[in-house]
Amino acid sequence: MSVYEQRWTTVRVEVEDGIAWVTFNRPEKRNAMSPTMNREMTDVLQTLELDDDARVLVLTGAGESWTAGMDLKEYFREVDQAPEIVQERVRRDASTWQWKLLRMYAKPTIAMVNGWCFGGGFSPLVACDLAIASETAIFGLSEINWGIPPGNLVSKALADTVGHRTALEYIMTGETFTGRQAAEMGLVNKAVPLEHLRDETVALARKLAAKNSVVLRAAKHGFKRCRELTWEQSEDYLYAKLDQSQLRDPEHGREKGLKQFLDEKSIKPGLESYRR
Ligand code: COA
Repeated sequence: MSVYEQRWTTVRVEVEDGIAWVTFNRPEKRNAMSPTMNREMTDVLQTLELDDDARVLVLTGAGESWTAGMDLKEYFREVDQAPEIVQERVRRDASTWQWKLLRMYAKPTIAMVNGWCFGGGFSPLVACDLAIASETAIFGLSEINWGIPPGNLVSKALADTVGHRTALEYIMTGETFTGRQAAEMGLVNKAVPLEHLRDETVALARKLAAKNSVVLRAAKHGFKRCRELTWEQSEDYLYAKLDQSQLRDPEHGREKGLKQFLDEKSIKPGLESYRR
């Protein structure tokens, strides 16, 4: 099943039936993201991008936690003592995988939030394309509770997903909310009972794995980029993506879809995908 056994110390990776299960693996520290984990996650993401067996990436956590956020000891206190240049490096390592790589990842990504999700965890949570949470998972912008404003891109991630008032309420109070509330506010796609979390995630991952991967990538990149572009820029960018996907698509999906609908009348794209 896994060809990656014991390659990383803080992350477990298993590739099975097209799904790459990437599991934060420091349950005894509630999967807090240490500098080591941040460096390893960059390698994990870059490795899986080139693994043809990994069609969809699922990011989850071992034990009762998704991630308790940045490691308060190893990422904050210990680095506080380090030279300024080391602090820069440690921050860059965190950003590299948590949103720079993950947000525009070449493959579809799902955050499967099995438990605690705090602070710095919100950057990779929102950088994943989709998210499913356990109804009972506990989320929180806890930074205010221990003396800092939200760090890294946590506030940006919230501003990109959750309404103004809701985001500020949780940023400013540090109060927790459940997976069910996270779904209501649009931070995750849905919340399900913990015992169904894996099956629901597999079902969603299979749907994504069955799509044309080149077109899927163009679609998600187009959506994410155009949130930050003007209408004119978006028009140029989205048409460029559309043309790029047609040029790069080895299975010529567009031609197949049009032929099956217009000539063969064998599919209705409103209701189903074209046949490969
Ligand atoms: N950074 C570093 N260590 C952490 C951590 C974090 N973010 N979160 C948990 N840990 C460590 C604890 O220090 C403890 O280590 P120890 O066994 O060596 O003492 C271990 O993980 C277990 O934590 P504990 O608090 O006993 O677990 P819990 O199940 O009772 O509570 C939490 C879980 C997540 C509610 C609690 O650990 C917590 O509040 N963590 C901090 C969350 C946070 O503020 N994150 C934002 C960071 S930006």
